[in-house]
Amino acid sequence: MTNSIDELDIFFPRPGQSITRKMGVVVGGSLSKGLDIKLESNTHVEDVAVGRYVVIEGEQNRFFGMITDVLLDNINPMIQSIPPDVSDPFLQEIYQGFIVFGKMHVSPMLIIDRLAEKPLPVKTVPIHFSNVRLATEEDVNLVFGPEDETHFYVGEPLDMENVPINLDLQRITERSVGVFGKSGTGKSFLTRILLSGMIHKDVAVCLIFDMHNDYGWEIQTERGHRVKGLKQLFSSKVSIFTLDEASSLRRDVRPDHIVTMSWKDITPEDMEIRQCQDNLRFHQSQ
Ligand SMILES: Nc1ncnc2c1ncn2[C@@H]1O[C@H](COP(=O)(O)OP(=O)(O)OP(=O)(O)O)[C@@H](O)[C@H]1O
Ligand SMILES: [Mg+2]
Repeated sequence: MTNSIDELDIFFPRPGQSITRKMGVVVGGSLSKGLDIKLESNTHVEDVAVGRYVVIEGEQNRFFGMITDVLLDNINPMIQSIPPDVSDPFLQEIYQGFIVFGKMHVSPMLIIDRLAEKPLPVKTVPIHFSNVRLATEEDVNLVFGPEDETHFYVGEPLDMENVPINLDLQRITERSVGVFGKSGTGKSFLTRILLSGMIHKDVAVCLIFDMHNDYGWEIQTERGHRVKGLKQLFSSKVSIFTLDEASSLRRDVRPDHIVTMSWKDITPEDMEIRQCQDNLRFHQSQ
């Protein structure tokens, strides 16, 4: 196959190119459900982590994807009922990678156009036995872009140190964007970094409904460290509005504006929506 990576490329990368070792080959899957990759016998299953970016060298296209699952498989299901004695390292070596092996599940996300070297939406899957390798900094930069005037460095992907992710803030503000994740995985921290970039580079005006005081003046990490909020970072560009001055003062936050609702602004429909929110307080205007 012409586009598979030569072993020599790993040891002697071509100028401007860093190549990673082949991790496995595509053995099945689909575009909607993701691809099944059988790991090479020299790829240790415990080194494969969910969330890492990989590149799949198809015959006509290069695919960019993310590892979504890691699993153990075998060629003979009997082995699950009668596990062999692998105290002998020689036997362990024979079993590992041949009779039992690791697999991973990869969600294809983009196709990298080989000629234009730009990312396109993924509409197909790579052929059987296409090579899979970890994405390099060059691959990630082709997708997100290098750090420059418009691209803002937001951090590194999980388990991929030295692979910076630089997001095009202008494009982010043109689209509907969400930050999703399990509780405690860093959603608020990442959102604060994105908002900092937008404010710093003046790409958009942000109206933030900060229900949990995640962005305004100061935030405490789970380990108790104090982290600066947007007001401390960009004092002249950020205004804090509060509905509850007492709560702000309790947290040593000096709000720029106190919002007071007049009784006449509140309709029965509003009360219907908020009826389950017992602790909502209104101030009567003079
Ligand atoms: N980029 C980061 N740098 C340093 N620490 C971080 C970073 N991201 C997350 N953390 C740590 O992880 C903790 C949880 O992060 P964060 O509050 O952003 O999670 P969350 O997904 O918003 O959680 P929740 O679902 O509870 O709102 C933080 O208190 C902090 O200790
Ligand atoms: Mg949060």
